[in-house]
Amino acid sequence: MIIFNKIDEIKLYLRKQQNAGQTIGFVPTMGYLHEGHQSLIRKAAEENDITVVSIFVNPTQFGPSEDLAKYPRDLKRDEIKAKEAGAHIIFHPDDKEMYPEGYKTYIEVEELSDVLCGASRKGHFKGVATVVAKLFNIVHPDKAYFGQKDAQQALVIKQMVKDLNMDTEIVVCPIIREEDGLAKSSRNVYLSEDERKRSLVLSKSLRRAQELIEQGITDAKIIRSEIVGMIEKENVIIDYVEIVSADTLKQVDKIEGKILIALAVKVGNTRLIDNIILER
Ligand code: PAJ
Repeated sequence: MIIFNKIDEIKLYLRKQQNAGQTIGFVPTMGYLHEGHQSLIRKAAEENDITVVSIFVNPTQFGPSEDLAKYPRDLKRDEIKAKEAGAHIIFHPDDKEMYPEGYKTYIEVEELSDVLCGASRKGHFKGVATVVAKLFNIVHPDKAYFGQKDAQQALVIKQMVKDLNMDTEIVVCPIIREEDGLAKSSRNVYLSEDERKRSLVLSKSLRRAQELIEQGITDAKIIRSEIVGMIEKENVIIDYVEIVSADTLKQVDKIEGKILIALAVKVGNTRLIDNIILER
């Protein structure tokens, strides 16, 4: 496996490979890799000749009071996990390499960026879209792999690729969970034993919502209040519980078509997200 820190060097290397006819699969990450990231890397390795994983804790997507400084990092461990899942190349730039002094350009995907996580994390998706566009310009991937775990992020990136006529195909992969249902996340390491138990309410309430919908309940208000009721019992703080169209992120009153139920909950100091997509 090769590790690149410099944009010019990885560009030169990858352009040579592409000119020789190799296809490139790309998995952008912020590192501290787990089974969720590895599922994306495995899929990329299956579908492409070369698999590139970026590891960059992107400062522009963190708000001033968020966990940028303490975001977990362990490059050595990430190298092993990336390799194990089939990665050939790691791109691990530092902040100055990505945002040199005098940096001025940002990308905003309107509307999709303003709701759900974008409402409580102002500017978050501007940072995400910007760094992903930069990474795409560096890597020129044929396909890039994103997790359904960050459903809104996947939609924002798809919209950006469409609007800016980028040539990369976006592949969205299912949420990987712990055995007890908790969605895998680099941030799960922040949870104390007790918080870890309380955090199960996210996946449990989504499963309950799915059951109710399968039983034929179509009123989104009823589903939402069932989820809110379950979460409120757990001594955690709800950021949002939303039932929206899975394509537009607009709120729905009635469960029909493809809907996304998305949650963000603060368990102690840790903000966790989870979601489910249902089709009726
Ligand atoms: P990060 O949180 O490291 O996630 C990298 C990718 O892994 C994202 O596409 C995310 O949806 C996916 N992922 C995380 N947990 C997952 C799980 N349990 N199951 C399936 N996929 C999962 O998302 C980011 O980094 C950043 O915003 C990034 C796109 C790299 C831009 O900085």
